[in-house]
Amino acid sequence: MQRLQDKTCVVTGAARGIGHAIAARFHAEGAEVILTDRDQETGHAAAAAIGCCFVALDVAEERDWEQLARLVPTADVVVNNAGITGFEDGPVPHDPEHASLEQWRAVHRVNLDGTFLGCRYAIGAMKARRAGSIINISSRSGLVGIPMAAAYAASKAAVRNHSKSVALYCAQQRWQIRCNSIHPAAILTPMWEPMLGTGPDREARMAALVADTPLRRFGLPEEVAAVAAMLAADESAYVTGAEFTIDGGLLAGSSATPGG
Ligand SMILES: NC(=O)c1ccc[n+]([C@@H]2O[C@H](COP(=O)([O-])OP(=O)(O)OC[C@H]3O[C@@H](n4cnc5c(N)ncnc54)[C@H](O)[C@@H]3O)[C@@H](O)[C@H]2O)c1
Repeated sequence: MQRLQDKTCVVTGAARGIGHAIAARFHAEGAEVILTDRDQETGHAAAAAIGCCFVALDVAEERDWEQLARLVPTADVVVNNAGITGFEDGPVPHDPEHASLEQWRAVHRVNLDGTFLGCRYAIGAMKARRAGSIINISSRSGLVGIPMAAAYAASKAAVRNHSKSVALYCAQQRWQIRCNSIHPAAILTPMWEPMLGTGPDREARMAALVADTPLRRFGLPEEVAAVAAMLAADESAYVTGAEFTIDGGLLAGSSATPGG
């Protein structure tokens, strides 16, 4: 059964990783998918590989959203997926004592401002039909403190909260426009490459990163896409303002649990 037949879906940061997997899954579910990304070359290739169209969009640029609104004035599903850790160009201090204001703002500009602008676009694109599904990709890091990635954690916590404000606002307008957040933990995408490296200790690093995860492995982008498809489809019509962890059981317990 194709659950997203006749739906127009916009996915940000869809050139690779989780966004690309979501776009591919939505397409397989029968949707017309518009892939967007600031990386135009990879984005065009990714869209062509799935058989969808691509629109260049830097989520932090208001003008890009205005252009998207002209090109794609109505949408049924918007996935605000684009995000950065702040470590893309190598290790920089992101702890609360040493993070620079510039670094802090750079992460918030993409993760939080980008999601705010994406939700605003989505409301405008869904209002005429008074229905739709907005899916914001937050993180497990938005639910707990991350000392060495404080800007990332704070921005993702804000995405979680803004998703609830959007959900309540839309409900107050008497629209069936839903907004939910997804909170993945370690999902194996190119985002991890700067931290994993290509050296002989890569496998050991990977194992160490998921040693505390009850399922003892990285998650797959397709596993996030499956939850996104459920939230995009009409089967979840009564789900709004909710949050979904996809973390191999990480947040189900505590490392201090007696008996391990
Ligand atoms: N991979 C994980 O373990 C993990 C865990 C929790 C949350 N997330 C979140 O999932 C989302 C996707 O992560 P991923 O692992 O696929 O990352 P990724 O780095 O593999 O892909 C991110 C994509 O977003 C694009 N992008 C970055 N900044 C952008 C901007 N300003 N405008 C438009 N596009 C931009 C990149 O070009 C890239 O194509 C992010 O929001 C991330 O924070 C990922």
